[in-house]
Amino acid sequence: MVSGADFPARRPGFARWLSASNDITQQFLAIGGRPDFISMAGGLPAAELYPAAAIAEAAQKALARWGATALEYGPVEGFPALRQFIAERVGRQAGRSIGPENVLLTVGAMQALDLIGKVLIDPGDPIVVQFPTYVGALDAWRMRAPSYRLLDWSPDADSQALRGAQFVYTVPNYSNPTGVLVPTAARQALLERVLAAGTWLIEDDPYLPLQYSGAAGPSILELHGRMAPEGPYDGPVIYLGTLSKSIVPGLRVGWVIAPSAMIQALAIAKQSSDLSSSMLTQAIALELLESGHEEQHVPTIIRHYTERRDALCAAARSELAEWFDWEIPPGGMFVWMRRRDPAIDTDALYQYALREKVAFVPGSVFDPAGKLTSAMRVNFSRNAPSVLQEGVARLAAATRHYLRKNS
Ligand SMILES: Cc1ncc(COP(=O)(O)O)c(C=O)c1O
Repeated sequence: MVSGADFPARRPGFARWLSASNDITQQFLAIGGRPDFISMAGGLPAAELYPAAAIAEAAQKALARWGATALEYGPVEGFPALRQFIAERVGRQAGRSIGPENVLLTVGAMQALDLIGKVLIDPGDPIVVQFPTYVGALDAWRMRAPSYRLLDWSPDADSQALRGAQFVYTVPNYSNPTGVLVPTAARQALLERVLAAGTWLIEDDPYLPLQYSGAAGPSILELHGRMAPEGPYDGPVIYLGTLSKSIVPGLRVGWVIAPSAMIQALAIAKQSSDLSSSMLTQAIALELLESGHEEQHVPTIIRHYTERRDALCAAARSELAEWFDWEIPPGGMFVWMRRRDPAIDTDALYQYALREKVAFVPGSVFDPAGKLTSAMRVNFSRNAPSVLQEGVARLAAATRHYLRKNS
């Protein structure tokens, strides 16, 4: 009799997927659901702020307005009215002409990353990534087996470094995992290098709405628009947006902005993944956007997250400053803590943290080579200030135990 346990050995393709799975992501999900744990690991919004009543009302309106259309399979490129809305909004934000043919609606920005991998990466292809790199992007591209180069932001960066790359990947606003806001001059310089190298630039922008103490920079899409404001969009920037951080992740509504030929290629890749996104959640998203709900809701999120960021950083100043350095992030969801004490290895510290029932994300998962053990990502959006204080106290206890055993 064949048992499920035999399958990995018997089916090489299946085994490859199992070994490629990033089991730490599974661990975070499991820990997130345990009441005795304080998880500062996931990149999750504050669930108690989810606007359930507004979503229920939007769902009723969407069904009354669109009827069966909202319940059908839809066009793979996305719900037309939402595509139009997003085209106009991004066009306004970026000060350039963007049409619906430049928009693909996706199942969150995560699906966009997956589709980009399908369309642009063949095994061994070089890609250039901002470092450290969003773990979801590394996961999305793992089975495509690219060869990684790390993005150098310095003004005298090697101009050859982007040559031959399929694309450059960056999260310039409040990056995941570092919270860094890339200065405008560095964005412009990168755009010029991308244009000179004739490659694509993936600009992943989920944290744009979460600005606390430092306005987001102009998008690289916008910077390109300043160079070429007229005519249909034909630039190198493939821009990704999402409603996950400004409304709720459960809508699973994101978008890609790109030249129309790239949108068509991504749409063909999407069709073989899911036929189409849910028309119902796209129709609900449209109601929420048209009614101005997002603009009304975001200031509430910002108020809470600013308080949480400050609570985390204040607790860390009194409990962790001996061992770690960090900058207060001007936006986003994360504080990136770098070891001061070279004896600390954050992969090893993670095991001690689990014993204290607290979790963070070790830096190694944001490294294509898996070697970054000098830093960790700590999330502040998910938990209330008092919980964050307790989480930091547990982290301090874990660090003390770890150092007692390892130095
Ligand atoms: C940089 C980055 N890109 C993409 C995503 C995925 O977002 P979505 O929920 O829209 O799939 C996230 C989620 O945390 C993220 O941090």
